[in-house]
Amino acid sequence: MIRMVELYGQYLTVKDEVDAAVEEVMKSSAFIRGPQVRLLEEELAEYVGVDHCITCGNGTDALLLTFAAMGIGRGDEVIVPSFTFGAVAESVALTGATPVFADVNPLTFNIDAQSVERLMSPRTRAIVPAHMFGQPCDMPRLRSIAQAGGVAIVEDNTQSFGAECRMGESAKAKTGSIGLAGCTSFFPTKVLGCYGDGGAVFTDNAELASKIRQLANHGQKPKYHYRSLGMNSRLDTLQAAVLRVKLRHLDEWIAARVRAAKRYDEALAGVAGIVLPMVSEGVTHVYHQYTLKMIPELRDGLREFLGSQGIETMVYYPALLNEQYAYREISRSDICMDGARQLPGSVVSLPICSHLEMRSQTKVVAAIKEFMSKGAGSRGM
Ligand SMILES: Cc1ncc(COP(=O)(O)O)c(C=O)c1O
Repeated sequence: MIRMVELYGQYLTVKDEVDAAVEEVMKSSAFIRGPQVRLLEEELAEYVGVDHCITCGNGTDALLLTFAAMGIGRGDEVIVPSFTFGAVAESVALTGATPVFADVNPLTFNIDAQSVERLMSPRTRAIVPAHMFGQPCDMPRLRSIAQAGGVAIVEDNTQSFGAECRMGESAKAKTGSIGLAGCTSFFPTKVLGCYGDGGAVFTDNAELASKIRQLANHGQKPKYHYRSLGMNSRLDTLQAAVLRVKLRHLDEWIAARVRAAKRYDEALAGVAGIVLPMVSEGVTHVYHQYTLKMIPELRDGLREFLGSQGIETMVYYPALLNEQYAYREISRSDICMDGARQLPGSVVSLPICSHLEMRSQTKVVAAIKEFMSKGAGSRGM
């Protein structure tokens, strides 16, 4: 079976380091708030290029804690993409604020700046660029829209940890360091993933960082003195220990993902009926996903054919958030979704990870070519 992500293969390459790190935690038995958590926060902050990193239980909590710490709530609006994972809008709605759905650029899968501009209102408090599939959003443009409207940017960097984006003439910034805050998840399949749930918020704003820390710890400051309601959201020491090891290898693993993506690009170039992922000017793509767009009538057939050859594929995402039942009465999306609407029926993501074997990739490519030559041929393409 060729899986979307080969996590065991990756583990084997760092087994000695991971096992030693886990054993150290077992020996100390400091399972909650052990020293590895603070060390990881320092190392992550340095990697992303911000002053503060606050780890927490998962990526959804990272978003929710950030919005809550910003005082976002009932009566406020937050602009989010219509084509992304549900947690982006859910975390907004859980504060009582209204998720406002923006269109996406069908070439990059990222939030469309022009539609964001149109959706800005006196109630807008924040824009959430979710950097999809490993590629940064158009941050220079979104930043100027946010500045003009006096609203904050909260980046959802869950899918693009380690990516970079040119922000000025020469300055390059890591995604997650550009807005007021950047949120991420360490779900196991992410570019930087742990062996369970985990998340973090990144910011240069000391006051926001302190509020997030307090909210993530039941609103306590100091211990047993509750300044506000909060929640219990923390990263386990064991997960922090694993992430410290994985962070040391992250850049080489991202480079391996990029090489795998280039191999797909070269091998699939010119295959009729599919559109390869596009990389925008001035950004680096870390290929959390390698997502094709294809003729909708052939998409499910291709998936079935690949499945029959033992090749896993996924559809991220089969429906737009603005069209879903949960958001019908609690969101706003009064613009047309011309870009986003093209995607749920036509996208398909192929296996990609830092440890994808070359012969697996050759098999994936050969199977796609075989299916598409028959499928596209039968349609006279
Ligand atoms: C874009 C995006 N945001 C947020 C999340 C939520 O992360 P978690 O599952 O850690 O809560 C995910 C999860 O896949 C995601 O893809």
